[in-house]
Amino acid sequence: MEHEKLNRFPDNFLWGSASAAYQVEGAMLEDGKGLSVWDEFVKIPGKTFKGTTGEVAVDHYHRYKEDVALMAEQGLKAYRFSIAWSRVIPKADGLVNESGLKFYENLIDELLEYGIEPIVTLYHWDLPESLQKKYQGWESRQIIKDFTDYATVIFKRFNGKVKYWVTLNEQNVFITHGYLMGSHPPGVKDMKRMYEVNHIANLANASVIKTFRDLGIKGKIGPSFAYGPTYALDAHPLNQLAADNNETFNAHFWMDIYVWGTYPVLAWKWLEREKLAPTIESGDLELLKQGKPDFMGLNYYRSATVEYNPLDGVREGKMNTTGKKGSTEESGIPGLYKSTENPFVEKSNWDWDIDPTGLRIGMRRIASRYNLPILITENGLGEYDSLEEDGSIHDTYRIDYIREHIKAIQETITDGVNVIGYCTWSYTDLLSWLNGYQKRYGFVYVDRDENNQKELKRYKKDSYTWYQRVIKTNGEEL
Ligand code: BG6
Repeated sequence: MEHEKLNRFPDNFLWGSASAAYQVEGAMLEDGKGLSVWDEFVKIPGKTFKGTTGEVAVDHYHRYKEDVALMAEQGLKAYRFSIAWSRVIPKADGLVNESGLKFYENLIDELLEYGIEPIVTLYHWDLPESLQKKYQGWESRQIIKDFTDYATVIFKRFNGKVKYWVTLNEQNVFITHGYLMGSHPPGVKDMKRMYEVNHIANLANASVIKTFRDLGIKGKIGPSFAYGPTYALDAHPLNQLAADNNETFNAHFWMDIYVWGTYPVLAWKWLEREKLAPTIESGDLELLKQGKPDFMGLNYYRSATVEYNPLDGVREGKMNTTGKKGSTEESGIPGLYKSTENPFVEKSNWDWDIDPTGLRIGMRRIASRYNLPILITENGLGEYDSLEEDGSIHDTYRIDYIREHIKAIQETITDGVNVIGYCTWSYTDLLSWLNGYQKRYGFVYVDRDENNQKELKRYKKDSYTWYQRVIKTNGEEL
């Protein structure tokens, strides 16, 4: 669709930005916090870039007031952050740590004081290590109850203050990295276990949404899903089929469950044939149907391009976690699809395709299939930044990236899709999980690197001022 004139952004559009507890907070064991699986995983040699950890991260735990003041000055309308489960319920006994809750209460109050809407993520991958030890975390159905109990504590405490809730962040990512690629905790490489675990996570997600409704908690709730549309390499029917497989297995497989409580039929048949189908117990399908979200949270960074992959074809290849352009290896699932180059888009230094139109296509596909409002819960560019002597950071590449994605959102709104907000990733620089601190995403530069924590001083990047203007003009001036 080409439009002669674009719709304006709605007046209440949530111009936001986002972070996650493990990536920013630090204070690993302070005020009664328990260890999370990430606190332990990063200690394994070779797992993260230069052995980086979130033990101190960017010290948001102690500097949240300074960070929120920067958000307020910028005019941010919404801030998405996650709650560390192990700060609130540190041990397997289920007892609540009041100091942990108090930290989040202070943060929420500080945001509200400045009129910034808190968007709270309940789970951004930092499972309490105590539950991993006790029953192997997501591998046991006990987690459905424990996750629901934890969420209930949070719902009751912040009901009325928080209006937007995110259940699981990128279930597709933490499950595939954790149980297929072995690159996230618990470092397992086993497809059968992955599908079992994923089914349990589906149930936990639905149970939390059902509980939210049963308790009459105010506001809107949904998952954050990592989705980029898949393109076929070309019009060759086998490549088109590969793209279709990729959408089925990597998108519908999760979003159909969230919205309809059903697995896509072709994926299910394949799982049965491969003896990979998860165990369905009585009551599971009923529970899944009660988990319908109010919105689809969308984390979009890049689109994917795939081609035909024969039965003896390519399997999982290496990711680029070093920032050395071109070091990503081909990867795929034999008999379904494999990744390939898209000649029409630029790439970042971490080989991520830069494709604003992909955001538009992705949102249109979600709206057409599920007819739900969309909250963009993450979008941004991870790149090297350089701090100049005068304290400036000229991140024009980030401004270009975000500008083009905002334009795509405006076009998508004009197409007729209900987009309620846009959170960039990320607010300050932070720990990029496997990629250390050199892959920076923030509007606010944090002066630290892999080897030296320095003073963690904050500096405004050029993108900070640019986004300030975007918010002020409600997207009129890009
Ligand atoms: C998403 C996560 O996968 O993408 C974030 O929700 C993450 O936590 C972001 O930081 C960017 O990925 P990466 O690997 O570059 O940090």
